Amino acid sequence: MAKNYIQILNKEHENILSVADVIEKECNGIKSGKELDKDFFNKAVDFIENYTDKFHHSKEEDILFKELCKPEAEMHCNPVDQMLYEHDIGRNFVKGIKEGIKKGDKEKIVENALGYVQLIREHIFKEDNILYPMSESALNKESKDSIQNRFEKVLKSMEEENKKYSKIIGDFKKR
Ligand SMILES: [Fe+2]
Ligand SMILES: [Fe+2]
Repeated sequence: MAKNYIQILNKEHENILSVADVIEKECNGIKSGKELDKDFFNKAVDFIENYTDKFHHSKEEDILFKELCKPEAEMHCNPVDQMLYEHDIGRNFVKGIKEGIKKGDKEKIVENALGYVQLIREHIFKEDNILYPMSESALNKESKDSIQNRFEKVLKSMEEENKKYSKIIGDFKKR
């Protein structure tokens, strides 16, 4: 059966978390003396910018969060602002990783990459356990159907990219 919008996002979170684990492992390796592998971090940045941010966060920001901020959504203590803020902190960490790669600065890369890993784990925990379940009760059927339709359109239009990133996730896990 087709996945509903929450199951789609939950599954993407699983992928994002599995890449976060690999990034953490690589950083711990560097801390114990491993050489800097710029290629690995370039691929990690590509994954975060395109899969996590462009593909996953944009569905939250442009579709789900917009529905949650409509007056008819019965959201008490709306956590959307905090989630948006955390997406931005994540983007700053990525900026730091990229600057580190450019300068060949291991410490800067590790510091920003581990900051990112911690942030994204906590962020995903909040969405999976608080925000998404809240959306389930706050949104009416019309909103949910609209989210579902728009998600399916995005998935369809990004099928090729999705395949590419599934392969990258598989390669990362083999490291
Ligand atoms: Fe998010
Ligand atoms: Fe998310």
